[in-house]
Amino acid sequence: EARERVRIVEVGPRDGLQNESAVIPPAVKVELINRLTEAGLDIIESGSFVSPKWVPQMAGTAEVLKTMQRRKGRHYPVLVPNLKGLEILLDLLSEQPASEVPYTDEIAVFTAATDAFAKANTNCTVAESLQRLEAVTKRATKEGLRVRGYVSVVIDCPYSGKVDPVKVKDVTQALLDMGCYEVSLGDTVGTGNPTTVGKMLRTVLDGGIPASVLAGHYHDTYGMGVSNILTSLEHGLRTFDSSVGGLGGCPYSPGATGNVATEDVLYALRGSQYAPPGDLNAIAEVGTWISKALNRTNSSRVGKALEAR
Ligand code: HMG
Ligand code: MG
Repeated sequence: EARERVRIVEVGPRDGLQNESAVIPPAVKVELINRLTEAGLDIIESGSFVSPKWVPQMAGTAEVLKTMQRRKGRHYPVLVPNLKGLEILLDLLSEQPASEVPYTDEIAVFTAATDAFAKANTNCTVAESLQRLEAVTKRATKEGLRVRGYVSVVIDCPYSGKVDPVKVKDVTQALLDMGCYEVSLGDTVGTGNPTTVGKMLRTVLDGGIPASVLAGHYHDTYGMGVSNILTSLEHGLRTFDSSVGGLGGCPYSPGATGNVATEDVLYALRGSQYAPPGDLNAIAEVGTWISKALNRTNSSRVGKALEAR
């Protein structure tokens, strides 16, 4: 029987914070994750083991994992770009007493649909990155970690323009073939609309990839995030990435804003058969708090509306 209820992957603590230029104290990151856990979200991407030269903001991820609250049955995935990052994570996990809830049970690997973006984000071509990620995925799986894949720039690339959906399908298939349990399709720039996102999904699905292994990761630059999710629902997708307060952006996608806000997704699906778990008011309070803590305006329309009540 098809799963109707939507699964939310909260990416605020990673995608949301990675782009902030001012150093965010680990205690704030930890408090953000703890509050999101408290508000009922069960998958919270908590950081990255990437090169600190490339993304300095994520340098403290080990400390964050060590100090945040972890609940059994919840998932706290982290991004890993290469074997070096995986080794650092595995060392950290091996220091833990067996009686504790592991720091994490899942990693996310990431590549792109264009060489230009892969080069800007990971300093290699798509083909090279798939080779790199295959080694990471095999090793992580052997160590008992689940692996999720990301494909960036599924609609438009900031460096090479309009993206061919066939390329998205091919890269998605390669990630699934190496052992990713799910692939999240990233509209990194946030220029997609229901027509272009629908066309891209149609190509991926017609290529033989089932909707049950796909997720939508839509940045909200043009305000189309929720619309793109509703379109994706019609195509059978049930997993979506979102960010509390609409935080974020990718450091290698100039001008792109944050992910679609978690509050906006919950509100859009409220009362429907798709409604995901999570307490909207509690999550909106987290959005208000983190926006203030980062000294930014709340990017969630729903969050702002609830603040005004
Ligand atoms: P490189 O410079 O080619 O790699 O970067 P390198 O092997 O030459 O390493 C350079 C330095 O970094 C060396 O240090 C390495 O040791 C170190 P040095 O010898 O100069 O002192 N290093 C590391 N340190 C810690 N952890 C590591 C690691 N790897 C190397 N894992 C690399 C290649 C892939 C490492 C780099 O390009 C990188 O880290 N990129 C990550 C960029 C990133 O995090 N982007 C944001 C996340 S993706 C995203 O936001 C999109 C997404 O949201 C979906 C969407 O919206 O589309 C997921
Ligand atoms: Mg992103």
